[in-house]
Amino acid sequence: MTTPTHTTEAIEALFNEARKFPPPPEFAKHANAQPGIYEEAERDYERFWASWADKLEWMKPYETVLEWNEPFAKWFTGGTLNASVNALDRHVRAGRGTKIAFYYEGEPGDRWTITYSQLLDDVCRFANGLRKLGVKKGDRVAIYMPMIPELPVAMLACARVGAAHSVIFGGFSPDSIVDRVNDSHCVALITADQGWRRGNKVPLKANCDKAMESTPSVRHCIVAKRVGDAVEMQDGRDLWWSDVVAEQPATCEPEPMDAEDLLYLLYTSGTTAKPKGIKHTTAGYLVGVTATHNLVFDLKENDVYWCAADIGWVTGHSYIVYGPLCNGATSVIYEGTPDFPDKDRLWSIVERYKVSILYTAPTAIRTFMKWGAEYPKQHDMSSLRVLGSVGEPINPEAWMWYHEHIGGGRCPVVDTWWQTETGAIMIAPLPGITTLKPGSATKPFPAIQADIVNEQGESVPLGGGGYIVLKRPWPSMLRGIWGDDDRYVHTYWSRFQHMYLAGDGCKRDLEGDYWFMGRIDDVMNVSGHRISTTEVESALVDHPAVAEAAVVGRLDDVTGQAICAFVSIRSGFEGSKELGDELRRHVGEKLGKFTQPKYLTFTQELPKTRSGKIMRRLLRDIAEGRMLGDTTTLADSSIVAELQERAKAAAAAGKDE
Ligand code: WTA
Repeated sequence: MTTPTHTTEAIEALFNEARKFPPPPEFAKHANAQPGIYEEAERDYERFWASWADKLEWMKPYETVLEWNEPFAKWFTGGTLNASVNALDRHVRAGRGTKIAFYYEGEPGDRWTITYSQLLDDVCRFANGLRKLGVKKGDRVAIYMPMIPELPVAMLACARVGAAHSVIFGGFSPDSIVDRVNDSHCVALITADQGWRRGNKVPLKANCDKAMESTPSVRHCIVAKRVGDAVEMQDGRDLWWSDVVAEQPATCEPEPMDAEDLLYLLYTSGTTAKPKGIKHTTAGYLVGVTATHNLVFDLKENDVYWCAADIGWVTGHSYIVYGPLCNGATSVIYEGTPDFPDKDRLWSIVERYKVSILYTAPTAIRTFMKWGAEYPKQHDMSSLRVLGSVGEPINPEAWMWYHEHIGGGRCPVVDTWWQTETGAIMIAPLPGITTLKPGSATKPFPAIQADIVNEQGESVPLGGGGYIVLKRPWPSMLRGIWGDDDRYVHTYWSRFQHMYLAGDGCKRDLEGDYWFMGRIDDVMNVSGHRISTTEVESALVDHPAVAEAAVVGRLDDVTGQAICAFVSIRSGFEGSKELGDELRRHVGEKLGKFTQPKYLTFTQELPKTRSGKIMRRLLRDIAEGRMLGDTTTLADSSIVAELQERAKAAAAAGKDE
C-alpha cells in the first residue's frame, strides 16, 4: 500500500477522537429508517433492494432481482422502465405537479422556481427536439453546461429518448472534451453560450468550438442562452436551445428501456492518463440513489433539500438529479461560487428557501471555517435539520464546526462515503439510528457488505486498517468501463478474489465504525475532485520545455490535497517563475484550470531507483516536508537535499498565492 494521504499524526489524532453524538430522540422517533433495518436487509439483501425497486414505476415488471456473473451484475432483468418517467411523470400523475422540483438561483441573483409539471413539459419539449435531430435510443450525447436548469432538463430528455448522457464538468478544457466525446462517439454536444463563475464569464461554447474541430461524431451542438454575449454559430451544426424546443409539444412518448440499458456514462480519473467512462444502467442505479437519498438524508415530503455540488460530478447526478427527483423532493440549484458577491452567499440561500437538508464537501466546510462563523451567523438557519458531507475524508475539526456553526448543534451530520463507480452512498450513518463520531463515515448502508482487508485479502480484525472492499453486488454498481471490460476487471476485481477494490485506505474502530484515510493509488483528491497524477504529468511533459515530470498530492488544510509537481527541464530552458506560470497555464489548457499544480519545483533530475522508477513516496515525503525514510535504493542521493530545499521554497511561494 502506498502512503495514505493522512500523516501518521493525523491518523493517531483520528483515533483519539472520542466524541459521540447519538441521534436526538425526537429525530429518531420520526426517522425514515428505524432500528431493525440492517438485520432485515441482511436476512435477504435481494429482497431489501427489490422492495425499493417496487417503489419505482415499471412499464413491464422485472422477473429476476439479480443475475450475478462476477464481476458483471444484472439487476431487475426482464423489466422495462424510463428514468424520466420515474423522475417526473409519476409525481405529476399522482397530483403533485404543482410541487416545486427546483428553486433555481443564478450567480447574478436571478431566481425562479420550477414545478414538477413545468419540468416535465420542458423535458418533453427538449426530448422531442432531440428526436427530431435524429438522436435515438442507444446513442450517446455529451453535455457541457453551467449549473442552469437546462442541464437537468438535457439529462432527463436524453433518458426519455433512450440516449445515454455523458456530462462533462464545465471546468474541463477543450482537449478533455475531445477525449471524452471521442471515446464514446457522442452524436451531439449540448452546451450554453457562457456560464457565470465568480462574476466572470466562462467561455463554454468557445471551448466546444475548439473541441469540435476534433470530434467527427458530433452532428449537432445545441446551445442554451445563459449570459447573452454573441457566440459563433456554425450553420447546419449549431442550434439554439430555444429553436430546438420551439413548436415542440409538451408531451413526449418515453422510450421503454430495459432495466440494464445504459442510463449514462461519467468519466473519472484512474491511474493512467486515459479517463474511464463509468457505465451506469437504468433500474439498479435508480434503486440505489432513491433508497440512499431517502434513508441517509431522512427525506420528508416538506423538506427543502440542497446538494451544493456540481452536476458535472457523480454527486450531482445521484443527489441533485436522479435521487431527489425520483423521491419527489424539492431541491435548490445554485449556479455559482460561495463567495459571490460575498462569503455569506450559501447561508443567504439557506435562509431564503428555508433549506432543511444541506449536502456539501469538506473542502467547502474548511473554507467556511477559514472565513469565520460570522458569515453563517448573519442568517437565520433554523430550518436546517440534517447536514451531509461527501467527497473526501472530513477531519473532526471540520465536522465539529459544521455541526455547531451551520447545524446549530442540533442537526445530525451524515458523512457519506462512495464513488462514481458505486453510483450511490455505500458507507454512511442513518441519522435516526446511528451514533455519530466526528470524522467517521460510520457503517455500511443496509444490504452493503463492506470489509477491510490486508495485502493478502484477509479481513482485518476491528481496530485495524487496510483496503476497503465490497463483497457483494449492489444495484447502483458500475456495469463496467465504456469499451474496456478488461480494465474494469483489472482495476476493481483482480487484486482480491470476489471483492470489489475501491482504492481507498480505511480503518475500522473497535465498534466497527469506518474511518477513511484517502486514496491508496496515484489518484489525488483536490477539493473533492479526483485527479490522476499521470494525467497531470502527461500534460506537463507535453510542453516542449519539460523533460520529465512527477506529480504527487500534498496535504492541504483547505483542499484536502494540493497538486505538487516536480519538473526537470530540457537544456536550453530555464526554470524561472515565468516558465512555472506557463506550465501551469499549459496544464490548465490541456486538462482544466482546476488541475493546475499549486506547487511546482524545478529539478535537474527526478529521484529514481536504480531500475529507473520515479520514487513517488520519496517525493511525497519531500512535498510534505517529512523526515525522509530509507533512501538507499536511490540512484543519485545528492539530488534529494537539493530537492528538499527547492520544495521548501515552492511551498513558501505556494502559500503566498
Ligand atoms: C473519496 C464522489 C472519505 C474517496 C462521491 C473515493 C471520500 C473518491 C468520501 C470518490 C468520504 C468520497 N470520506 N473519502 N465521505 N467521499 N471520498 O468518484 O477517495 O468523485 O474513492 O465520487 O472520493 O470520488 P468520486
